[in-house]
Amino acid sequence: MKEEKNTHALLFLLLLHSTLGQLDYAPHFYDYGPSSTHGNMALFSISEDTSVGTQIYVLNGTDPEDDPVQYGLTFEKGSKEYFWVESKSGNVTLVQELDRETQDEISVLVSITDGRNKVVETVRVFVTDANDEPPEFQNLPFIINIPEDTAAGSSIYRVQAVDRDMGSGGSVSYYLQTIPSTASFFGIKWKHILQQDII
Ligand SMILES: *[C@@H]1O[C@H](CO)[C@@H](O)[C@H](O)[C@H]1NC(C)=O
Ligand SMILES: *[C@@H]1O[C@H](CO)[C@@H](O)[C@H](O)[C@H]1NC(C)=O
Repeated sequence: MKEEKNTHALLFLLLLHSTLGQLDYAPHFYDYGPSSTHGNMALFSISEDTSVGTQIYVLNGTDPEDDPVQYGLTFEKGSKEYFWVESKSGNVTLVQELDRETQDEISVLVSITDGRNKVVETVRVFVTDANDEPPEFQNLPFIINIPEDTAAGSSIYRVQAVDRDMGSGGSVSYYLQTIPSTASFFGIKWKHILQQDII
């Protein structure tokens, strides 16, 4: 009799387990990798010159029971809210201007829910560079005193400018514009792309 009781208890537990287990599975995101424009947004890259209002991504996932899912998107405390998601379609829109020189990586909490289970993932979105920063001279103004006996061909000053863009967008070239009466006195020598001698 005791054994029968135990069997009943076990059966009950098994039943309970399988009912609960099959009651509802959590939805999940698809992950098609960083270069895809739909999925969970993980490692997605967006150029800093993307216009506000552009649809940039579609959050996309599924529910094992095929229940309709809704999407959500939030940011860590203190972070600007750069994106907005339309909960049913998963369409993600850029709602804040980006600037790689200020923030090159954005942490986003993306969520998917079937109404009962909500799955939240923290993903990183990268902001890529556009050539949007002007070059800036260092140590302005340049005031240079030149002794009159300075030999022709001497280096009299080295100008330097910096540009906060990356790669080729961050390299600078120098030109010298002289007023006609002094044109023959000065020239600029290419030394390398970032620093030039004026001779
Ligand atoms: C979501 O992913 C599924 C499976 O790959 C695909 O059939 C569907 O078209 C995708 N939806 C969107 C909006 O990208
Ligand atoms: C979501 O974006 C697709 C194009 O990717 C568009 O066809 C659809 O109308 C958009 N839906 C909403 C609700 O904005």
